[in-house]
Amino acid sequence: MKEKLSKIQVEALEQINSADANLDEIRIKYLGKKGELTAVLRGMGALTPEERPIVGQLANEVREAIEAALNAKKTEQQAKALEAQLKAEKLDVTMPGVAAPVGHIHPLTRAQRELEDIFIGMGFSIAEGPEVELDYYNFQALNIPENHPARDTQDTFYITDNILLRSQTSPVQVRVMEHQKPPIRIISPGRVYRSDALDATHSPLFHQLEGLVIDKGITMGDLKGTLEVFAKKMFGEGTQIRFRPHHFPFTEPSAEVDVSCFVCGGKGCRLCKGEGWIEILGAGMVHPFVLSNCGIDPEEYSGFAFGLGIERITMARYGIDDIRLFYENDERFLEQF
Ligand code: DAH
Repeated sequence: MKEKLSKIQVEALEQINSADANLDEIRIKYLGKKGELTAVLRGMGALTPEERPIVGQLANEVREAIEAALNAKKTEQQAKALEAQLKAEKLDVTMPGVAAPVGHIHPLTRAQRELEDIFIGMGFSIAEGPEVELDYYNFQALNIPENHPARDTQDTFYITDNILLRSQTSPVQVRVMEHQKPPIRIISPGRVYRSDALDATHSPLFHQLEGLVIDKGITMGDLKGTLEVFAKKMFGEGTQIRFRPHHFPFTEPSAEVDVSCFVCGGKGCRLCKGEGWIEILGAGMVHPFVLSNCGIDPEEYSGFAFGLGIERITMARYGIDDIRLFYENDERFLEQF
């Protein structure tokens, strides 16, 4: 019986040693209810009372040895499995990544932000107004009554007789003055609409930036100084500005403002069409009628206003000759900015 036990131990340990995944089978084969060791123990009844404890102890030792070997093998197998898994899942964090294509800001948005930065730097804040506007704010309060010829050049889209898509950012002037006491120093960028057919220089939707300053003692000199600083910041330190007399219903006097061509410096080139100057905006001293419409006393306060086309300025700046390029979303165009 002792020999049988030793044989079982030797055999079992050998099998455990060379086992793969079948440890449970081995456990059942030797230690299970119908296992070989159990069978030997069952036969102990045939032993003499002297032999029994000796064989019993030996049987226990064999069981412990087999159990220990099984556990050791199991631990070893688990460690190996973990190592294999870690190897398989290895991640090289130093590997170069796959670059995600990143877009960039549209040239018009960029120009608008640049304009905002320049005026914020001069103490202006940003005001907003609705794109769906009342006739009153877009025209009447700005001294453009019904049947005024200025309405022809700013023909827009009507929602009702009285409600329209604003044709200019100037109505924001009125909305601000109605709610804010001077001193006022605001710019207002945004979309405007006109019922123009789309061609190289016209679009039914485009962008303007309005400026308004109201305080005691504001003069045309303040307007000139402000626009000069703006022009130099936007187009370069060497830039000069020029005022040409003009007419807008909501300013008196009014002017169209040109900057010296930043490509040729004023000599005349393709961009400025030989003129040496590029028109960039309309401006003037706010009409007393507009001030009193908004509850501001023209005897006490004066101010200036200006309005520029963001497309126009961006086109001049980059030498873009077709306004439609801004809206077509062609990457070959947009990528260049
Ligand atoms: N609103 C004018 C337009 O769209 C531009 C303009 C001219 C705005 C003179 C002004 C201004 O504030 O003073 O043609």
